[in-house]
Amino acid sequence: MFPKRRMRRLRAPVIRPLLAETALSKNDLVAPVFIDETAQKQKSIESMPGQVRYPLAEAGTVARDLWDAGIRALLLFGIPRKKDEQASCAFDPNGIVQKAVRAVKREVPEMVVITDVCACEYTDHGHCGIVGVTRHGPDLLNDPSLDLMDRIALSHAQSGADIVAPSCMLDGVVQSIRAALDREGHSDVAIMSYSTKFSSALYGPFRDAADSGFRFGDRSTYQVPPGNSREAVLESMLDFDEGADILMVKPAGFYLDILAEVRTLGIPVAAFQVSGEYAMIKAAAARGWLDEKEVALETLTCIKRAGADLIITYFARDVAGWLDEEQ
Ligand code: PBG
Ligand code: ZN
Repeated sequence: MFPKRRMRRLRAPVIRPLLAETALSKNDLVAPVFIDETAQKQKSIESMPGQVRYPLAEAGTVARDLWDAGIRALLLFGIPRKKDEQASCAFDPNGIVQKAVRAVKREVPEMVVITDVCACEYTDHGHCGIVGVTRHGPDLLNDPSLDLMDRIALSHAQSGADIVAPSCMLDGVVQSIRAALDREGHSDVAIMSYSTKFSSALYGPFRDAADSGFRFGDRSTYQVPPGNSREAVLESMLDFDEGADILMVKPAGFYLDILAEVRTLGIPVAAFQVSGEYAMIKAAAARGWLDEKEVALETLTCIKRAGADLIITYFARDVAGWLDEEQ
């Protein structure tokens, strides 16, 4: 008789799979790809084992390999030869990302190419736009940086990007980029906004990978404090209002409550499992303390369960292989 409700009945091996609510699929995944203008061959990234900076000459083959593995979208980051105060290489029609977009599209036209629209890889001071002196000291200037973001996004669209992804957290950047794209005939290019981006310590390895660390200050005047949930959701609501096509929560795993809430706004939501989340799993796995595959799949399944339509993850290529094994 007792207990009345036996939860274990439906967990029998033959029944359990029928009732699975959340299954990862290759269509959920976006693979970040670093292209380094100065690289002649692949350069390893110490704090991100398994990830590399590719030379431009390999951009097409990387895309081909990902496509053949079943990955349908990639997020491109460029590491330029030259940095300056104005981030001029970021909107150069022959800049590294612009060339990489064309190379990928030439090799795999069906690949959905997403580009990161930001200036921190291109500025000598490492901040995400134009810096100046404010009443609180040197800081990222909001409105003067908007024009820069428009130019970067436009140059990506002109090179063939399908989706542009502003990651600078400037107020009004989505509206500004949308207007610029529409004005220049790119109304079909979508905007995936890094709409809720926390001021997180988990971006450390990325800053090694993309050489985008800052010379002074930090990003806390433009990114969301990790403990503030209403502010976090409001950031995404504003980008929704400004016309974003896809919202994003970043990092992913520590912020699932925010992801679940942003999902209710009604448009697709991406989650970015960032470099630090990747590095933690890799480091523990290298010591034999965690099972890399099991933990990676668990984190990604939970990110999907919380509401992500898309997951940007450095595990994308591995996951594609793991999903194949299971069939
Ligand atoms: C650029 C950008 C960053 C990341 C994505 N785009 C770094 C930052 O904001 O400092 C982080 C990605 C990661 O850690 O994997 N603004
Ligand atoms: Zn940036």
